[in-house]
Amino acid sequence: MNYRHLGRTGIRVSELSFGSWVTFKNQVDVKDAVEIMAAAYDAGVNFFDNAEAYASGKSEEVMGEALKKLKWRRGSYLVTTKIFWGLHDGVNERNTLNRKRLIEGINDSLERLQLEYVDVLYCHRPDKTTPIEETVWAMHNIIEWGKAFYWGTSQWDADEIVAAINIAEKHHLHKPVTEQPEYNLFERQRFEKQYARLFKDYGYGSTTFSPLASGMLTGKYLNGIPEDSRAALKGYDWLHESVTDKEKLARVDALQSIADELGCTLSQLSLAWVLKNPNVSTVITGASRVEQLHENMKAGEIAPKLTLETLKQIDTIFGVKEEEEE
Ligand SMILES: NC(=O)c1ccc[n+]([C@@H]2O[C@H](COP(=O)([O-])OP(=O)(O)OC[C@H]3O[C@@H](n4cnc5c(N)ncnc54)[C@H](OP(=O)(O)O)[C@@H]3O)[C@@H](O)[C@H]2O)c1
Repeated sequence: MNYRHLGRTGIRVSELSFGSWVTFKNQVDVKDAVEIMAAAYDAGVNFFDNAEAYASGKSEEVMGEALKKLKWRRGSYLVTTKIFWGLHDGVNERNTLNRKRLIEGINDSLERLQLEYVDVLYCHRPDKTTPIEETVWAMHNIIEWGKAFYWGTSQWDADEIVAAINIAEKHHLHKPVTEQPEYNLFERQRFEKQYARLFKDYGYGSTTFSPLASGMLTGKYLNGIPEDSRAALKGYDWLHESVTDKEKLARVDALQSIADELGCTLSQLSLAWVLKNPNVSTVITGASRVEQLHENMKAGEIAPKLTLETLKQIDTIFGVKEEEEE
């Protein structure tokens, strides 16, 4: 496993990491979580991602129980969580980054995770109604109180991130240090274009999510929706349109010959492609069973094999023209 600095911070994160969205509680109980997290840790993963919203708080509970059983030294791993959507319908408790919600939210997350602190706390989405200044102050205080060591953003616009950094600098507060954006072969624009100045001018970190587009880039949806897949889960009907999109499926199919040439699977190739981007601090992977994790952890061996020529071939398959890349 290779380790990369999380932006300009002093901490290093495994280039492949693990997150619990969809899987923990819905597909994975505590026993399986212990098995999957242990396999990840043994492969060198030191970054475990969660969010209060995942399975309405139950995902944090499962991870907390698993961590208790795993008994790892706290210094040997990082846990992250995220706040925004909330778990209750009170007027100040939904879709907000107000001070009260953030502080109550981190306290509740820590209780579910059975931890004294998380390593990174993210604002899971931007909140257009709370002044960014209020959010920055609350995140600063949470760090000062030792409940989180760093804070970050998730799916914020570059302008909003720069505004948060500027407010923090003006008042000598802890700045956000990393984004958590979607980044995969289908979803490149925001990461590669809009965020370019964040990486260049601010050394912002990135912990990227859904590297396999919810599993689509594994090729598992090429012949329909498998019964044991994410898209077949109750409540995930919204994925059907994407995983049955003929144009997207044709692109995934066309990747197979490149994977064959490299002697790897489509999952490994798609993860390796994300790893090739030096602006990525860590690729947060997901797995509903331990075999997937074992397969995915080998992506690090494939990344060095992706030559410029291969990357160009991949761009052609995904309809990215050379002038767009500049
Ligand atoms: N900040 C945000 O807003 C946000 C949003 C989404 C995710 N995230 C984070 O990023 C993490 C990863 O996202 P993701 O779960 O969407 O990642 P992903 O890699 O796009 O999808 C993971 C899913 O694909 C399938 N899969 C993975 N490896 C496979 C393999 N080798 N063979 C066959 N199927 C395989 C599994 O689903 P099935 O077995 O069920 O098909 C697995 O749960 C999340 O856990 C979360 O921590 C953050």
